[in-house]
Amino acid sequence: MEVIKINNLVKRFPMGKGYFTALNKINLSFEKGEFAGFVGPSGSGKTTLLNIIGSLDTPSDGSVIVMGKSVSDLTYKQSARLRNKHIGFIFQTYNLLPVYTVFENVEFSLLLQNISASERKKAVMEALEWLDIADKAKSKPNMLSGGECQRVAIARAMVKKPEIILADEPTANLDSENSHRILQTMKKLNEELKVSFLFATHDEKVMKYLDRIIALVDGRVASDEKNISKLEIKV
Ligand SMILES: Nc1ncnc2c1ncn2[C@@H]1O[C@H](COP(=O)(O)OP(=O)(O)OP(=O)(O)O)[C@@H](O)[C@H]1O
Ligand SMILES: [Mg+2]
Repeated sequence: MEVIKINNLVKRFPMGKGYFTALNKINLSFEKGEFAGFVGPSGSGKTTLLNIIGSLDTPSDGSVIVMGKSVSDLTYKQSARLRNKHIGFIFQTYNLLPVYTVFENVEFSLLLQNISASERKKAVMEALEWLDIADKAKSKPNMLSGGECQRVAIARAMVKKPEIILADEPTANLDSENSHRILQTMKKLNEELKVSFLFATHDEKVMKYLDRIIALVDGRVASDEKNISKLEIKV
C-alpha cells in the first residue's frame, strides 16, 4: 500500500521581490513500512519536504497525497486530524514540554483523541517500556540526558501508533552509542509494527540503517537508491 505519493511538488518561499524555489518538481512515492531517508547538503530542502509531508506546510504547486488524502485540500482542522492520527514527528531538538513529566509529555499526543484515561495510561506506559524509559515516567525533561529526551520524543511519536514517523535529524544531539541505540529501536518499531519512517539527515550513522536513500540537491531529487551498504541488524 502506498502511504505517500508526491507528484511534481514545488515549494516557493517569497524572497525579496520574487521567490526562492526550495523544492523543484519532486516526484516520489513511499510504500507502507519503508525505512527511508533524505540526505543532501544544508539548504537542499530536506526539512521543507518533511514539513509538507507532515502537513505543517503546504505545496506551492503539485500534490502530496498522504494516506489517500491530498494535503493541499485539507482544512486546518482536517490537517490537524491527519497529523494527530497518522503521523508522528521527531525533531532534532526533541520539543518536549518542560513543565510536564515524561508521562504527561507522551500522554499529550493522545489527549486530542477520544481515549479514556485508563487506556491512555496503558498506551503511554507501553510506549515508555518500548523505549526502555518507563522508570523515568515521573521525571521532568530537565532531569534527563539528551538520549533519554530523544527516547521520550520517540515514545511520544509512537504512542498513537501512527502509520508514518517523520524524523528530522533525530540523532543530531546524541553521542554515537545513543544514536545507534535509538536507530535500533526505530528499526524494531518499523519491522514489528510496520511503521513507515522518513528521515532527514546528514548523519552517516543514520544512513547505515536506511533501506532507501534519496539525495536532494537544490530542491531536486538527485538520486533515489536502495542502500546496498546497509548494516544488517538483528532486531
Ligand atoms: N520559511 C521560509 N522562508 C524562506 N525560505 C525558507 C523557509 N524555509 C526554508 N527556506 C529555504 O529553503 C531552503 C531549504 O531549507 P531546508 O530547511 O528545507 O533545508 P535542509 O535541507 O533541511 O537543510 P539543513 O540540512 O541545514 O537542515 C533553504 O535555502 C532555506 O533558506
Ligand atoms: Mg533541515
